[in-house]
Amino acid sequence: MKDAAAFLRGKLRDVPVSAIAFSQAEALLVALVGWVPGVPGFVVRTLFYKMLFKRLSGMAWIQPGVTFVETNRLVVGKNFGVNTGTYINAIGGITMGDYVLIGSNVTISSGRHTIEGRMPPVFARPAVPLPIVIEDDVWIGAGAVIMPGIRLRRGTVVGANAVVTRDTEEYSVMIGVPARKIRTRDAEA
Ligand SMILES: CC(C)(COP(=O)(O)OP(=O)(O)OC[C@H]1O[C@@H](n2cnc3c(N)ncnc32)[C@H](O)[C@@H]1OP(=O)(O)O)[C@@H](O)C(=O)NCCC(=O)NCCS
Repeated sequence: MKDAAAFLRGKLRDVPVSAIAFSQAEALLVALVGWVPGVPGFVVRTLFYKMLFKRLSGMAWIQPGVTFVETNRLVVGKNFGVNTGTYINAIGGITMGDYVLIGSNVTISSGRHTIEGRMPPVFARPAVPLPIVIEDDVWIGAGAVIMPGIRLRRGTVVGANAVVTRDTEEYSVMIGVPARKIRTRDAEA
C-alpha cells in the first residue's frame, strides 16, 4: 500500500493539475454518454464529443461501450463509425480522415513504454507519444491492433485480428500478425 501511495504521489508530481482535471472530466463524460443506447446515443455522443475532442466533424456513429482517452489530441473527420469494445488512446495524437469505419474490440493507442533495461519496471515508465494517422475511407476489422506511430493510408482495409506494425499503402488489404498486404482494392473500384 505504501508503495502504491508513493507511486501515485510521483505520478501526481509529474502531471499538471489541469491535465488531471481534464482526464477526470473526460472519464466521467465518456462513462455517462458512452452507454446511451440506440439513435439517442449516437446523437448525444456526437454532441458531447464535439466539445471534448480536439475536432469532430459532422455526425459520428459511435456505438455504446467505446473508450476514448486523451480526447483533446483526437481529430476525427466526417462520418466516423466505431463499434463496441474499441479502445482509442490519443496520448500521442490521433488524426482520422472522413469515412473511417472501425469494428468492435479494436485497439488504437498512440503511445508506448520504453523497455530497455531492467529497472524501473515498465509499469512505472511514462508513455512515449507516437502519433497515429488514419486517412479517408479506412476500414479496420474486429479485434485489430494499430501500433503507435502508424499511418494507415487512404482506403486501407485491415482484416479482423490483424496487428499493423508498418505504414500501409493506399487501398491495400492487410491481414495477419504482423499484418501483410494480400491485395489492393483497385480491382473493385
Ligand atoms: C480482410 C478481409 C476484408 C478480406 O476479405 P477478402 O478479400 O474477401 O478475403 P477472402 O475471404 O477472399 O480471403 C483471402 C484469404 O485471406 C484469409 N483471410 C481473410 N481474412 C483474414 C483475416 N482477418 N485474418 C487472417 N486471414 C484472413 C482467408 O482465409 C483467405 O486465405 P486462403 O487464400 O488461404 O484461403 C476480411 O477477411 C476481413 O477480415 N474483414 C473484416 C471483418 C470484420 O471484422 N467485420 C466486423 C467489423 S465491421
